[in-house]
Amino acid sequence: MARINDHYQKLAAGYLFPEIGRRVSAFQTANPKADVIRLGIGDVVLPLTASVRQAMHDAVDEMAVASGFKGYGPERGYAFLREAIAKHDFGDRGVAIDPNEIFVSDGSKCDSGNIQEIFAEDATIAIPDPVYPVYVDTNVMAGRTGQAGANGRYSGIQYLPCTEASGFLPALPNRPVDLVYLCSPNNPTGAVASKAELTKWVDWARANGAILLFDAAYERFITDPELPRSIFEVPGARECAIEFRSYSKTAGFTGIRCAYVVIPAELKGRNARGESVSVAGLWDRRTSTKFNGVSYPVQRAAEAIYSETGCKEVQANIDYYMANAGIIRAGLAKAGFYTFGGVNAPYVWMKTPNGLDSWQFFDALLSQANVVGTPGSGFGSCGEGYLRLSAFGFREKVEEAVGRITKHFA
Ligand code: MLT
Repeated sequence: MARINDHYQKLAAGYLFPEIGRRVSAFQTANPKADVIRLGIGDVVLPLTASVRQAMHDAVDEMAVASGFKGYGPERGYAFLREAIAKHDFGDRGVAIDPNEIFVSDGSKCDSGNIQEIFAEDATIAIPDPVYPVYVDTNVMAGRTGQAGANGRYSGIQYLPCTEASGFLPALPNRPVDLVYLCSPNNPTGAVASKAELTKWVDWARANGAILLFDAAYERFITDPELPRSIFEVPGARECAIEFRSYSKTAGFTGIRCAYVVIPAELKGRNARGESVSVAGLWDRRTSTKFNGVSYPVQRAAEAIYSETGCKEVQANIDYYMANAGIIRAGLAKAGFYTFGGVNAPYVWMKTPNGLDSWQFFDALLSQANVVGTPGSGFGSCGEGYLRLSAFGFREKVEEAVGRITKHFA
């Protein structure tokens, strides 16, 4: 029999969202008449906007004639999209990013999961707790950790607790590491780092020779104009950070798939001989070996959100989801629940009632209120005692869910 990658067997359980899906399906099979409201995984519900749909149609029509047909595209993305990103997502906000520093991909889950491959097998890492579980699991798979302890934490990872006392923001690592994952707005808590906070991280990373892996997948949901949307708004970040951006939630692309990574030319790592190596060069090498690029119609669709009309349409959808977040947050707070997030992020982080742990509350919520959330402990041990509610739902369902939670648990 072929040897497997034993590190996979360290993974404590199934990946969080399929596990939720399994429990919801089992409940739905046993209770076929239950009207289950899903505010678990952050999956968008609003249809594609008119500009996106038109751009995709046009791109398909273009490829339907010999003169416009396209085969393999550039692995790192077409120049038209990378130029639009550099201008609209960065240049217009006063941040200089060269289109050649942008790598278009099929999702931030893949990007934030794959990025660790270009670093040393024994690279040391720090990861906030709670946070998007992909960061931990992919490092476990790569063999950078020992076994998980009783609280689900793996030895070899420096966890950065994000608690109510710290405003759900992580403190600096207490020993040097090579890589730090940061997520702002944070999934799951909705906490957002201020510019002063990010400056602290950039200064620390530069002083310690560390690289910040900055996940900004939810930046479009920031409503406070004072809050940074990009780590590159902070001076010095070009020497110490990689940024991940996604169209999934921003433009309703969870089923279309498009995202990108920004790796500045100045960012360097060091090889075994102590020589400095371009990180973008490594990612380019990886991308061109393992990826054939995002499809042309999808890249044209992504480009369409930067037109004047496309931008307005996307903003209307974001406003819709953020109004949902406000309804969840205000409704639950009024009923006496502790809530956080939902102001600059599409997730509301609530404390579980009646001393229930996260999974107990998940099960009670599903069986009594027929509402699906995401157990906080699935994002890390500091998430225990919390549940995340997603604002990506239809308005009437969101209102109904808040009413049911209040009725059964307040
Ligand atoms: C979430 O619910 O945390 C996200 O939808 C998961 C993802 O983006 O992969």
